Amino acid sequence: METTCLSPDEAGFASAAAILRAGGLVAFPTETVYGLGADARQDHAVARIFKAKERPRFNPLIVHVSSIEIARAYVEWNDFADVLARAFWPGPLTLVLPLRPDAGLSSLVTADLPTLAVRLPAHPVAQGLLEAFDGPVAAPSANPSGKISPTQAAHVLAGLSGRIEAVLDGGACPVGVESTIVGLADAPVLLRPGGLPAEAIEAALGQPIRLHGAGDPLSAPGQMQSHYAPGGLVRLNATERRDGEVLLGFGAVEADLNLSAAGDLTEAAANLFRHLHALDAQGARVIAVTPIPDHGLGRAINDRLRRAAAPRE
Ligand code: TXA
Ligand code: MG
Repeated sequence: METTCLSPDEAGFASAAAILRAGGLVAFPTETVYGLGADARQDHAVARIFKAKERPRFNPLIVHVSSIEIARAYVEWNDFADVLARAFWPGPLTLVLPLRPDAGLSSLVTADLPTLAVRLPAHPVAQGLLEAFDGPVAAPSANPSGKISPTQAAHVLAGLSGRIEAVLDGGACPVGVESTIVGLADAPVLLRPGGLPAEAIEAALGQPIRLHGAGDPLSAPGQMQSHYAPGGLVRLNATERRDGEVLLGFGAVEADLNLSAAGDLTEAAANLFRHLHALDAQGARVIAVTPIPDHGLGRAINDRLRRAAAPRE
């Protein structure tokens, strides 16, 4: 199969929507990372996502929708969801809520869990596609399972070319790390730090949010220890470049690439996967990374880097 590159205009949205309707796969930009979309109601289409990414079947997918009203057709809404959706949708926030029995989605989407992850993305190209398709789009990040997430169409093609019908090219993703995932099936719990800082969520809820821990009833099956892995190794909290390493810096340090010389966490998040892809493509054997503050977007950056550095299965 040859993967077509579609331009982010009405004609591109119409072609992409037609591919989704026919059960095909289309990668598209969101403000966080590129997603690999399929019609969430078609078993065969959703199965193809798992095959293209070589993703384990137990790892459920996020369903992308174009409005709060549509989200409410798929999940049992509650007051917490209302507060967070009104404050942060469209945006880099995913809510996990009980799946409605009449949702009509493929059971592959939820990996047979009683809950569903829903998200209303802010990116105009994602919105253009959702509008043209007029249905629920299941979409994980558009990378082979376990590898670095894509923030440009070229990253998608490098990982999945020949395995998917098309990619909508919307340029670089502005946020650069995946959405923050909040579980709301019970008391609010942070399932994955991401593009919306936890501090903002706590302010909106008016209460602290618990970090998901081992033994929690609500599972986050996709939070594998090794993830976002480049070909080489990753060494964290580096204070110097050792022999044979390349140095990925943050702040006023001398480095091969810098996430943000100004020490800006928003800029660093936007550069994170792009720089990891670039160092990976240049064949870096060890990527050493200087320390990054663990607040705001720094929590998502450090989460991704810890998984990139984790022992590979
Ligand atoms: O920013 C994002 O969230 C991107 C864009 C494309 O929307 N998507 C994304 O999808 O990061 P993915 O599949 O790479 O990560 C989704 C995470 C996985 O860890 C998965 O296990 C978790 O969400 N997840 C999905 N449904 C869930 C559920 N019902 N309960 C708990 N975790 C869930
Ligand atoms: Mg992913």
